[in-house]
Amino acid sequence: MNKFFELNKEEIIKFLKSKDEDRTQLLKRSQEVKIREVGNKVYFRGLIEFSNICSKDCLYCGIRKGNAKVLRYNATDEQILEACRFAWENDFASVVLQSGELSSPAFVERVDSLLKKIKQLSNDELGITLSCGEQSMETYRRWFKSGAHRYLLRIESSKRELYYKIHPKNEIHSFEKRVEALGFLKEAGYQVGTGVMIGLPFQSYEDLADDLLFMKKLDIDMCGMGPYIEHEDTPLYKYRNLLKSKQERFDLALNMIAVLRLLMPDINIAAATALQAIDPAGREKALAVGANVIMPNLTPCKYREEYKLYENKPCLDEDAELCRNCLEARIELAGAEIGFKEWGDSRHFFNRTKSNL
Ligand code: 5AD
Ligand code: FES
Repeated sequence: MNKFFELNKEEIIKFLKSKDEDRTQLLKRSQEVKIREVGNKVYFRGLIEFSNICSKDCLYCGIRKGNAKVLRYNATDEQILEACRFAWENDFASVVLQSGELSSPAFVERVDSLLKKIKQLSNDELGITLSCGEQSMETYRRWFKSGAHRYLLRIESSKRELYYKIHPKNEIHSFEKRVEALGFLKEAGYQVGTGVMIGLPFQSYEDLADDLLFMKKLDIDMCGMGPYIEHEDTPLYKYRNLLKSKQERFDLALNMIAVLRLLMPDINIAAATALQAIDPAGREKALAVGANVIMPNLTPCKYREEYKLYENKPCLDEDAELCRNCLEARIELAGAEIGFKEWGDSRHFFNRTKSNL
């Protein structure tokens, strides 16, 4: 066993703050641990942001219910299935269905029927991750039964006090419910992913260290975390003068990924799209320091403009993002191989479920 698995809070904070040679060592160590524990392959998850209709009002998010400037859309089944077919035919092996948060019976039913159709069109071959927010245990079970096997639900911040600085303090934005939902997902049998935003106003290094320890304690299988990026049409924008520079948030996000890889060596870590909003090669840089999953955007182009969670969201109109040659070249630059046709499930999930038997 590796001594890094047991980092304490002080050590984590020191790593998060590290600069220059110490930081280079941290990033290098993380990459070595990744290659040793999960290999050097990068797995693709085609991201389909199928609707921006949302019942919530998170204070940081560009598609919050209260933002009247956003044109709301709901992609048709045909458009979603076409994106899935693209993923399947291009050997991506998995898709992520993401949307604003709704829990109406019609929404639950729609996702359920989409899951079945996606399985059908791909002879059961496409792996499906859902990212559709907090739902009841019954809904999670139903979607699992219909073919979803991974679920992403970011905790956003594991510090209750900070959670309520970035969410309205009311029943539909309850911190306890969010934590409970993560428990439901695990119980329903999913590979569970969570994550946080890095560089939020009012967030300290200590908070971030606690976020990493929260993930370790929850024994998550996957993580997606990236820099917070202010959005003009959100309430949190007024605190923009409290923020670290974008470059500092970016560097800190890479440090977070590196420390998490040391703490949880066998999980899947995604190179978040928000990294690319700050640095065009941001995701590739994350792949070179501990991340092993990337989510190329397959959302139909005409909707991308309306799924802006934050400013400067990349790839609003390009197909080059999806050009196989470009993808391959970029991954190679990061020194990794692509796991085409492989689900690339979290090794951690198998390790933890095996030990439960
Ligand atoms: N900056 C960075 N990430 C954001 N997200 C939402 N708004 C922002 C923002 N302004 C992230 C949240 C959410 C995920 C889908 O996008 O962490 O869980
Ligand atoms: Fe939609 Fe947060 S604003 S879930």
